[in-house]
Amino acid sequence: MIDVKDIRKHFKIYDRYPDLCYLDSAASALKLEEVTKALTDYMDYNGTNVHRGVYKLSYEATNAYEETREVVAKFIGAKPDEIVFTRGTSDGLNMLAQSYGLNFLKPGDEIISSELEHHSSQMPWLNVSQKTGATIKYVKLDQESRITIEEFKKVLTKNTKVVALTHVSNVMGYATPIKEIIKLAHEVGTLVIVDGAQSVPHMQINVKDLDCDFLAFSGHKLMGPNGVGVLYGKKKLLDMLPPVDFGGDMAEDVYTDHMSYKDAPYKFETGTPMVAEVIALKEAIKFIEKVGIENIYQHEKYLHNLALAGLAKIKNVEIYNPTSETGIISFNIKGTHPHDAASVYDKNEVCLRAGHHCAELIMHHLQVVGTLRASFYLYNDEKDVERFLAATKEASDFFAMFMEE
Ligand code: ALA
Repeated sequence: MIDVKDIRKHFKIYDRYPDLCYLDSAASALKLEEVTKALTDYMDYNGTNVHRGVYKLSYEATNAYEETREVVAKFIGAKPDEIVFTRGTSDGLNMLAQSYGLNFLKPGDEIISSELEHHSSQMPWLNVSQKTGATIKYVKLDQESRITIEEFKKVLTKNTKVVALTHVSNVMGYATPIKEIIKLAHEVGTLVIVDGAQSVPHMQINVKDLDCDFLAFSGHKLMGPNGVGVLYGKKKLLDMLPPVDFGGDMAEDVYTDHMSYKDAPYKFETGTPMVAEVIALKEAIKFIEKVGIENIYQHEKYLHNLALAGLAKIKNVEIYNPTSETGIISFNIKGTHPHDAASVYDKNEVCLRAGHHCAELIMHHLQVVGTLRASFYLYNDEKDVERFLAATKEASDFFAMFMEE
């Protein structure tokens, strides 16, 4: 079980805003004090580059940087040399589309995407499709707007070269049956890229158990720094892929007419990396491990269920994902633009997201301009749910007046 009072002691933001009702963790999680301390320690007392300096401070920075690679690897069941540090999920997913998609795909090849994808998971492959002539196909969503095995099988063919799917939708919170999809895709020799931005911070992930080829996620959604993320890739695949950025630190030997690169993962980490951010990322992961990811998941589910029960009693609330298995609720107040409704939450100091959530395909599918989205994390409590419900009631009552006019 989670002791929220105790958890909140690790977030300085609650000292300044004790009444903060933050329900937008799917966009960015609040930042841990331990993370800030690691960031500022490096900035104040080190500040040197990694993998280059031949002096003690640089060795220390390099060790702290590489230690994060080990912590991340252990966290997701990978090996350290399968962990590439990126600037975030989008960066990792784009890198794969450029490295694999643009270099290897050709007309006749097929890419599988879905309408549940975040723009960062779909757009890079739409671009690959437009540039290479490969075809992009979308898994038809079921009645609840979920990806199902049945529909996935209908788009998988012997020509499918890439399956690029979200693990958990940032709008619907649905968990894709990814393990089975990976198994099916591998039977026809297809690579599977998993967008783990919304799953890794909230549920137990083991890449070897899933057998995914690639998995990308961000530091800022798991209480770590912005501007740092992780791309996991099976070592043999990382070895096979060409780098997309060239320059400092990734080169092995360089001549006027030829060049060679370091082994993966280093050939993908070009230039001076986000040293402070990588070093600080491990503090977030250690914290999650201390609390227990399963406890976090159960806590979110508990708050999610409380919120759903409360919303059911408020008129004019339309929930798009009532069966979601994670702590994300997407909804609207009937007849009300989500941005108008959002102003009521803001007035009540309830932070949630309104709009298309960088996932326009699912908005088109649901035939809405946007949704309101509340998302829970380990620092939320029952009082947050009460505040959320009270603001929803106020919005519902207020906008109902205009509907009746
Ligand atoms: N992708 C983030 C979200 O869903 C920013 O809000």
